[in-house]
Amino acid sequence: MPAYGRIGGSVEQIEIVVGDITVQRVDAVVNAANEQLTGGGGVDGAIRRAAGPELDAATRALAPCPPGDAVITAGYRLPARYVIHAVGPVWRGGHEGEDELLASCYRRSFTLARERDLESVAFPAISTGAYGFPFERAARLALIEIKHERERDADPEWRPGVRRVVVVLHDHEHARIYRELLAEVMTEDPSGP
Ligand code: APR
Repeated sequence: MPAYGRIGGSVEQIEIVVGDITVQRVDAVVNAANEQLTGGGGVDGAIRRAAGPELDAATRALAPCPPGDAVITAGYRLPARYVIHAVGPVWRGGHEGEDELLASCYRRSFTLARERDLESVAFPAISTGAYGFPFERAARLALIEIKHERERDADPEWRPGVRRVVVVLHDHEHARIYRELLAEVMTEDPSGP
């Protein structure tokens, strides 16, 4: 008998908030990391400052991590129990597989969360800062992957899946774009034109 009351593919709540990802009360926050998993600015810098030096030691042991992939560590001094370090692609004009690599970051993050039976995950807008990915394009890709997770069939291991997804943005204009796209992407028919 499975020990879970829920079956996979069960994202029930998608929240778009403006604020600081480090203060989110979720099971895991996602970091916009780099391949070497060494400290940077933006989301990475904020997460490392808030989590404390133990996080640096933990990521050092797991490096490197290629673009499109992710690793998971404890959250140390963060309210979140875990940090998922997802390495987004650097934007090089859009013809070097950037879309697929970015989508893969979200898929890998969901897989890592599922493997630990996490119920809530907060994502930043991966790759849209220092890595230069056009914001709206990145937001659409992220929302499509969140939608896929919501619609995912129960997997053979009976993992319950992430129930609450929080997208944490740095400013109101980014949140407006995300909210507009949310309505669009969630109602899009995948078999449409
Ligand atoms: N909370 C939420 N969002 C934030 C925060 C924060 N504390 N700080 C910045 N942002 C926003 C930025 O405005 C941007 O839209 O997060 C988005 C991602 O920006 P970056 O953190 O620069 O991430 P990315 O573009 O993926 O670049 C990764 O930057 O810090 C380095 O080590 C990191 O080399 C890596 C690169």
